[in-house]
Amino acid sequence: MEQGIALSPSGAHSQHDTRYVDEFSITELVNRQIAATAPQRLADIVTALTRHLHDFAREVRLSENELMAAIQFLTQVGQTCNDKRQEFILLSDVLGLSMLVTAQNNRKPQGCTESTVFGPFHVENSPEHAMGDDIANGAPGEPCFVRGVVRGLGGEPVANARIEVWQADEDGFYDVQYDGMDQARARATLRTGPDGAYRFRSILASSYPIPHDGPVGKLLAALGRHPWRPAHLHFLIKAEGYETLITHVFRNGDHYLDSDAVFGVRQSLIADWVRHPAGPGPDGRLLTAPFYTLDFDFALNPLPGDPCTART
Ligand code: BEZ
Ligand code: FE
Repeated sequence: MEQGIALSPSGAHSQHDTRYVDEFSITELVNRQIAATAPQRLADIVTALTRHLHDFAREVRLSENELMAAIQFLTQVGQTCNDKRQEFILLSDVLGLSMLVTAQNNRKPQGCTESTVFGPFHVENSPEHAMGDDIANGAPGEPCFVRGVVRGLGGEPVANARIEVWQADEDGFYDVQYDGMDQARARATLRTGPDGAYRFRSILASSYPIPHDGPVGKLLAALGRHPWRPAHLHFLIKAEGYETLITHVFRNGDHYLDSDAVFGVRQSLIADWVRHPAGPGPDGRLLTAPFYTLDFDFALNPLPGDPCTART
């Protein structure tokens, strides 16, 4: 039964309304406490959060034990965070919240490369590499040559775009997940050439489970969900006059494309990794084992009002 703000028994508002609050009217009472001097955006967010949280508790008829279990769970999530591990991001990811926020903040015209989740394994200032370099730096995995062109929405090549790329190795780990690893592996910063082209050598991307030895992993297991992500490369592309693009390229045929633990897959981001027998690679050097190639072009969204890039 929906009820309004607490009223005194006489039926009139009184300065003692708070003393007559019940499980329904408490929502308005909490929100009434926010001072008029609070920043408007903060007030709006906390008001809506309170409303949804209270509606949720009423809908599931949350018990006191369940509230305590939830508090313990969130405490463990916080205690699992350290400089290498961000369990709250994982929680947001597996609940689909990260992808929802990504989607609603990155609406783009048709034809632009879609955005997807950032993930917790990006590192600022990864080493700069020249076009065509091998960025694996010893990361284990079959060789893979990646190339493509960065364009604007109108098809114009974007020169000197800053591309950051990072990926897991064949064992499913990013360099930062190894204890004592002080070198960047399978991670680099590159620049597109005057024709918008980029290319580098790395290793084949593999599917991997997100870290699941903590409270988020326990939650997934309790829900009967797996922690796997389909094989992908991460890209962060910045270029003057264009919106920054944070995205992945996913490997076609991967077993987990339709059950990504963090809901990041988009059809337009799936590409073919082509397997080649041992022989000369795209850089002309002889490879003694099979290798892969991936071609993927990106289309950046011009910033509104930028005279260099805006569409007319
Ligand atoms: C990743 O792709 O690196 C990632 C994304 C979300 C959670 C964990 C890992
Ligand atoms: Fe990843």
